[in-house]
Amino acid sequence: MDPLKSLIVGTGVIAPMHVEAVRAQGGAAVLVGAVDPDEERRAAFCDTFDVPGYADLETAIAASSPDVVHLCTPPVLHTEQAILVLRSGANVFCEKPLTDSLADVARLEEVEAQSPGHLVTVCQWRFGSAARALRDAVASGTLGELRTGLCHTMFFRDQSYYDVAWRGRWESELGGATTTNGTHAIDLVLSLVADWQEVSAFTATVGHQIEVEDVAMANVRLANGAVMSFGASTVSPRQNTAVRLDFEEGTVEVNAEYRYTTANWAFTPRPDGKAVAPWAGVPDVGSSHAAQFATMVDALRAGEQPPASLDHVRPTVEFLASMYKSAVTGRTVKRGEIAEGDPFYTGNLNGMRAAERG
Ligand SMILES: NC(=O)c1ccc[n+]([C@@H]2O[C@H](COP(=O)([O-])OP(=O)(O)OC[C@H]3O[C@@H](n4cnc5c(N)ncnc54)[C@H](O)[C@@H]3O)[C@@H](O)[C@H]2O)c1
Repeated sequence: MDPLKSLIVGTGVIAPMHVEAVRAQGGAAVLVGAVDPDEERRAAFCDTFDVPGYADLETAIAASSPDVVHLCTPPVLHTEQAILVLRSGANVFCEKPLTDSLADVARLEEVEAQSPGHLVTVCQWRFGSAARALRDAVASGTLGELRTGLCHTMFFRDQSYYDVAWRGRWESELGGATTTNGTHAIDLVLSLVADWQEVSAFTATVGHQIEVEDVAMANVRLANGAVMSFGASTVSPRQNTAVRLDFEEGTVEVNAEYRYTTANWAFTPRPDGKAVAPWAGVPDVGSSHAAQFATMVDALRAGEQPPASLDHVRPTVEFLASMYKSAVTGRTVKRGEIAEGDPFYTGNLNGMRAAERG
């Protein structure tokens, strides 16, 4: 089989991780170009990785006929660029956040349905071997029900992090510590316990001159009646992502910063229990863009729908929108209530403006 041709769009901070992901596929994918309107950045990237550069996406698609387009651009561009790529017939590997709008998700679903291409969102924390083994264990019920849990991403960013033009503003970043930084752990937990029912949240901006939140805390009730807590911050000098899920049969924990390996995971069985860590004996694959991209390459080569496509990612978009709606309105938000007609359906900024108008 010919290798899949990968085109990278946006040659900033995260783009080299996508190069690494392409190059880790043992020849099953190959880099064919990079796009960035910023000439200096594009030239430096193309020199480093020895690929042709393009100033705009349409020209690059016409010139390189990519199979996969990696969107590494500011969040506000993701939906329109994904639509353009899907309409060209190619597949999309889009950086998070895909969007903050359930209306966009619906539009993307329509376009994807008319295209041979698939849309996948980067959510690399789902794809380490420990997380995958845990997901299988949860699905097969061997750990019993989830009784409670914590999912907190506590990072530190100084003000200069927000000097990048698109960061710190609702219009372009689409959210703050939760959407940008907390999303990996939140998305991982939602991929395990998708059936949340209601959320009650507070957000604040306490340490930066920015519009978006730099800390958020949310309490969530699950369908089985359990309650758990989600949080994210960029004002916490000791950085750590800490997830603990207390199942009937044992506590699962992962503590890491940006990436994990199996060594970052721990399992504690209930005192009288015999359950073992779901990842015991499973070869260690850490969380990375390469690990997730491998699942996309395998699926595309097999003619199948890759994991982390729209129907898997919609719950994360809905959860974050509901969390912001709760924080802005000061009331608990039920899953499903953000439907067409709700200002938050078309994005967080629209929701906030509507709340301000009363
Ligand atoms: N998955 C992760 O772990 C992870 C980590 C960091 C960033 N990200 C995400 O990746 C995305 C990019 O973040 P970043 O830190 O690399 O940003 P960045 O600002 O460093 O890079 C973005 C690049 O996009 C370019 N760009 C702007 N408009 C463009 C257009 N129309 N076409 C092509 N290129 C264009 C900019 O010139 C810039 O070079 C964001 O959505 C961010 O949340 C993900």
